[in-house]
Amino acid sequence: MWDKLRTHYAQVADRRFETLVDAARAADFTAQTGDMRLDYAKTNIDAHVRALLIDLLDQTDVAAKREAMFAGAPINETEGRAVLHTALRNLDGGPVIVDGQDVMPGVLDTLARMEGFAADVRAGRFVGQGGPITDVVNIGIGGSDLGPAMATKALAPYHDGPRCHFVSNVDPADIAAVLRVCDPATTLVIVASKTFTTIETMSNARTAQAWMSQTVTDTGAQFAALSTAADKTAAFGIDPSRVFGFEDWVGGRYSMWGPIGLSLMIAIGPDAFRAFLRGAQAMDRHFQAASWQENLPAMLALVGIWHNQICGYATRAVLPYDNLLSRLPAYLQQLEMESNGKGVSMDGADLAVESGPVVWGEPGTNGQHAFYQLIHQGTRVVPCEFLVAARGHEDDLHHQHQLLVANCLAQSEALMRGRTLDEARAKVADAFEGDELERQARHRVFKGNRPSVTIAYPQLTPEVLGQIVALYEHRVFVEGVVLGINSYDQWGVELGKELATELQPVVEGKETAAGKDGSTAALVDFLQSHGVS
Ligand code: F6P
Repeated sequence: MWDKLRTHYAQVADRRFETLVDAARAADFTAQTGDMRLDYAKTNIDAHVRALLIDLLDQTDVAAKREAMFAGAPINETEGRAVLHTALRNLDGGPVIVDGQDVMPGVLDTLARMEGFAADVRAGRFVGQGGPITDVVNIGIGGSDLGPAMATKALAPYHDGPRCHFVSNVDPADIAAVLRVCDPATTLVIVASKTFTTIETMSNARTAQAWMSQTVTDTGAQFAALSTAADKTAAFGIDPSRVFGFEDWVGGRYSMWGPIGLSLMIAIGPDAFRAFLRGAQAMDRHFQAASWQENLPAMLALVGIWHNQICGYATRAVLPYDNLLSRLPAYLQQLEMESNGKGVSMDGADLAVESGPVVWGEPGTNGQHAFYQLIHQGTRVVPCEFLVAARGHEDDLHHQHQLLVANCLAQSEALMRGRTLDEARAKVADAFEGDELERQARHRVFKGNRPSVTIAYPQLTPEVLGQIVALYEHRVFVEGVVLGINSYDQWGVELGKELATELQPVVEGKETAAGKDGSTAALVDFLQSHGVS
């Protein structure tokens, strides 16, 4: 099934797709749901390529697998689990059955408990030893950090609750910087960990406990936990009334819609959090109902597959022209790379195609003054994904927002059009002549023909953020199915964790580095000679 696409690519690879982009293509090579628009007209995908890409969806049974996911089938086959983050936002939907039981009553009950707790914290009914809560510290890592941290930043204009801080790294610099600005007597610590075993999170939680116990008599009373492991949260000393549980059918990197989103809910309030869920649910419905060509997650996935698996572009830049989304690239790195960065297909065979791409990025316009040089003139093609809002939240500074939007559109246009040698010569003709003119002109050539997509929306509201995140989640699902990958396990994180456990006593000087490779042993030596042990 890949051969036809490769053959066609060989025929069109050198075509300048700019010549395809007229008004009709602009209408045809977009997909829209509500007022969110995905424009993929600035790519080398033509109607024939699109049809071949859509064939991939049919050949790999994406529709049936999509329904299996929503229905609670154990599509995470290596762990024998359902994949049901969609149930967490199934606010007004029907039952969702896992192992013969409807999970929705439990989901809605936990949501109501979270709302009650968040409302109490926000209203000052839940207090610390020193009075109403002024600061919330979410301690978690990976999916227990990146989602809520990204969303809390993204929805900053909606904050009307206590300050929220996020601590993830085991590097003590992270937690020290946060605790330094908090008053233990008015701080709520939320320990967010699906497993409640993650070493970074548990180390930071114990550090926070020790910090608080210097001032607060009943530290347990100012701790809450978000986890699937009720036995472990109890052993840590957190009262069940402040434990918000979820099931193993919520993957860590898909978990911010439920308890892992508690810090976000405290920051923006239960109503805005529900709006966030509703936005995601709207995208779920669109993903389930829209034809492939109109389907934003499916088309975004197919554009990615075209660029990565067919054109061979190994990375993808995510470039939000929306500073509120500054943590989106980091969030997507986990969502996409932990989900689809795998070399073995569901049946255990080596993957026949490349795995998912390297995802990276920074907000525009900042990136323009840093790495866009390579995107425009480097030898490798980097497909770009722009996100842009029609309006910001600073009405009095809308003229600056207009400048932001102009920059976003200019970048995708520049990537596509480029600048020819003749145009470059004209630019420098006044300043140089002869060979020097030629040399100077060549430095100013942009090859162009570089693809990008643009996701445009009216304003970054809680609903729109929910839509954006669900769009990316479903894109990952589609990409995983087409590539034959299980997007919902993460065995690739295990080896490093095991070796770190082995190395800890070596670093501490309690064991020797015997048996370690020469490089590792020498690095331990060096760090020990400078005080690590
Ligand atoms: O090590 C990877 C990982 O398991 C991620 O998948 C997960 O989001 C993160 O660690 C944190 O896990 P937990 O929520 O169980 O602490």
